[in-house]
This record gives sequence, C-alpha cells and structure tokens, in this order.
Amino acid sequence: MKNNKLTDSLQLVIFGASGDLSQTKLIPSLYKLFKRGRLPEEFFLLGADHHFENRAEFLRNLSETVREILPETFETALWEKFAKKLNYLQIDFEDEAGYKELSRKLDKKEKSYRSSRQRIYYLATAPGFFPLITEKLDNFDLAGSDGADWPRLVIEKPFGYDLESAVEFNSKIYRVFPEDNIYRIDHYLGKEMIQNILTMRFANMIFEPIWNKNYIDNIQIISTEKQGIKSRGKYYDKSGALRDMIQSHLLQMLALIAMEPPENMATESILQEKIKLLKSLAETPLLNLEDNLVLGQYSKLERPEKYIPGYQEEDKIKPDSSTETFAAVKFNINNLRWRGVPIYLKTGKRLEKKNTKIFIQFKSDFHPSFLDNNEPEANLLIIKVQPREGVSLQFNAKKPGSQNEIVPVFMDFCHKAPRDLQSTPEAYEELLAALIRGDQSLFTHWKEVKNSWLFIDQLREFIDTREIKPEKYLPGSSGPESMTRLVARDHRQWWDDAALEEQEENL
Ligand code: BG6
Repeated sequence: MKNNKLTDSLQLVIFGASGDLSQTKLIPSLYKLFKRGRLPEEFFLLGADHHFENRAEFLRNLSETVREILPETFETALWEKFAKKLNYLQIDFEDEAGYKELSRKLDKKEKSYRSSRQRIYYLATAPGFFPLITEKLDNFDLAGSDGADWPRLVIEKPFGYDLESAVEFNSKIYRVFPEDNIYRIDHYLGKEMIQNILTMRFANMIFEPIWNKNYIDNIQIISTEKQGIKSRGKYYDKSGALRDMIQSHLLQMLALIAMEPPENMATESILQEKIKLLKSLAETPLLNLEDNLVLGQYSKLERPEKYIPGYQEEDKIKPDSSTETFAAVKFNINNLRWRGVPIYLKTGKRLEKKNTKIFIQFKSDFHPSFLDNNEPEANLLIIKVQPREGVSLQFNAKKPGSQNEIVPVFMDFCHKAPRDLQSTPEAYEELLAALIRGDQSLFTHWKEVKNSWLFIDQLREFIDTREIKPEKYLPGSSGPESMTRLVARDHRQWWDDAALEEQEENL
C-alpha cells in the first residue's frame, strides 16, 4: 500500500510527448492539475520524443493544442507559469546518446530538489517501444531508486495482443520494474461514474441485498462510439473491438459491477476481488458462441450529402481485412452470486451515437393483479458513464389521471449534463493525480490483464478456427442485424435502444 501523499518533488518524463495522447490528454490534464494546485511544488516535466527539434517548437505546438482543447480553462498567464516547468529532449528511442542526455538533465535538475529520484516515466509511445525503453532506462541506471516507491513506470494499453504476447511483454518490463511500481492505464477507471460503482453498490442498503441471481435478470454493459478508427489504422487492424475495448474497458466495468464485497475499500482488497471475478470469468467455458457472439464491421455510407468510407477503405487497413469494429457477446459467470445470469457486452465504432452505460435489469415478478395485458416493465438500474454522467432507476407507477394504467418512470440522478461531451481529458486528470499520489486503485494489475486475456483468447480461438467473418453494418446504424437476435432469442432487448433512451432523456 502506498502512502497516498502528494510528494514534494517530481520529475515526469513523457516518452512520446509530441503524440496525440500527450498533446490532447496528458498535458492538458497536467495543466488542469496545476491550476487546481494538485501538482508538487517542485515539478519538472520532460517531454522526450523525436518529432520536435527543440523546446520552443514543442511549446509552440503544445500551447496551441491545449488552448483548443480547453477553451474555457486556458488562461495565458497561467499557462506561461506552467510552461516554465515544461522541457523537451529530442531523442531517438533506440539511440543511447539520448538516454545519456536524459540522465544528465534529470540529475542536474534534481540537485536543486528536496527529494531525489522521485521520477515517473510515462510511456505514451507505440507499445512496440515499451520493452526497449524500459531496457534502456535500466542500462543507464535510470530505473534504480533510493526508496521502494520510485521510480514509477506508466504504460498505456495495449498490453500485448493475446495472453502469450502479454506474458512476454510483461516479463521484459518485470526485469526492470516491480509490479508495485508499474501503473497500467485503463482510462475508464478514471471516469467519474466508474469510480462511483463501488460507492453505489456498497454505500447503499437498497442495492447489495438484491445484487445477485435471485433478483437480477441480466446485465448489459454497452459502450458505443460514433467515430470510426480515425488515424489509428495500423494499430486497430491488428486489434479489433474485442481486444481494443472488451479486453480492457468493458471487462474492467464488469469486474466492478460483479465482484464480491471487498474486505475494506483499500486498493489491495478491491484488487483481490476484481482479480477473483476475472479469474472465474476466464475459467468459465464460453458456450454456444455460434449464437452468443456477433462481430461486425462498418461498411461505407454513400449519400448525396455525405460519404463515409467503410472500414476496409480506411488508411492503413487491408482492403480485405476481417477485423471486427463491432462485437457483442453473451456469457455467464459461474459463481454462486451470478450463476445463470446472462451478461451481455456490446461495443462498436461508427454507430448511432457515443454512449457508455451499464444496465442492470431486475427480474419481473409482480403481483398477479398486474399480470394482465398491461404488464409492468422490469425495474432497471442504469449507470450512465458518458456522455452524460449519472444514475437512473426505472420503476412503475400509476399513470396520473388513469384508473389503473401503469407507466414506467425514471428517477434520475445527474452529475453534469454536457450532452455532446466526447472523450474529455478529465479521466486522465484523475489518473494522473492518483499516479502522483502513488494510489494504484485506478490502475490495472498484471493478474487482471492476464485473466482478461484468457477470456478474450477463448473468443479469438473460436473466431480464428471457424474463420468467422464480421457482418457488415452501416455507419450511423445500431450495428449488424444479428445483434438483435442475440437478445431476442432470450426474449430480451438491448436497453440502449433509441426509443427507451429518448423516453429517459426527455424526463
Ligand atoms: C481506447 C480505445 O482505449 O478507448 C479507442 O483504444 C476508443 O479505440 C477509446 O475509441 C474510447 O474511449 P472513450 O473515453 O472516448 O470512451
């Protein structure tokens, strides 16, 4: 367990500082932390990359990007103060001279600091560089420390491509950094409503007693996107929706929803329960995948007013690629709490809208007097992750003015309501603050990653041995046709259905 205190000195090295992630998420989030006084007093950021030639060029680009990303928060005077803490080193990740220079710069700066070697290395590069950079850090004695807590290594997903590659990748990192000093980012864990799941579950008497197979009919975890793959073709074509979204974000959400109550709310206790859940998931054989798995790929949209390229036409995508941009899967968790409760996960790109929600549908067992034609709707708990954040509970009430007509109504708790919020840097702000505090609760442990890969590998094996091709769907649609059958077969529906959403949003 880390001490969770804000350190007095910190050197943050971001490898890949000129990339999209650094410029649009990491540095804007650091600026916001600075504004809120959440950065250590002695803070030094070193952007290490090959793209920009010098600090002036790096800062010029950065300030333009940050101004664009944070139109309401950006203040020129404050930015200039913050920028004094930003430095840049042009480095070729393979070249030893760069690491020598890095070491020299860090040591020099540290001489004026109260604490030494409190360093974080953030690898915001293509994952191919992770083992190389960690090895070089070790070679140049940059990874050693005086205290057990430092230095810290931060890595972005993907952690491998399957279990085998993840194990290999992890063992290379382990040669240099111990698990306790590795912070694996799953940015969904930084989202407000994801952090809220455990509070909702365990700080409310009304949920926990019914949070099991006796009362819950099914769970749906859905994360859809309007955007396509943008400029990430090279990565995405080797990944696809199962690896890109389900292996990480959707399984992390499921772990928090379905885990057993932890002994206490300390990082280790929560982690233990998440790992147990993911392990039981990985050990439950996936049945009837021919019916329970749907893969899709977006096709092109040709309209007189607009043209949207199909996935196979995107940059750096093979024209005959069978990578899935949509995946929906149904399965069970074979433990005492959840045995027999279907879990449905769904994610996809270029769909109708950006939407991440968790739906807990309760069983329908009403008083016999209500079981006539006007049968009430099931109770539904909706955890709204994005774009709007909040919680909604659907229950039944008598329609005002009617004699006995029943209508579903929603009780709505809303965090904030920027309807068009896309991916904001806020999740990163939380993650960076936790990283600086040394709080690992918002990061994923190797054992979680390993079990999540075991689950995905089962699905991939089924797909690869049967050579299953994804079904086409139109951009802006709700996905391939078979996804409706996946739930209709069980006499259920997807709860992110447009009509329901509209009804709820109009409240
Ligand atoms: C990333 C995936 O991890 O999450 C992307 O690699 C995806 O493909 C993104 O678009 C979604 O994040 P958010 O926060 O916008 O839902």
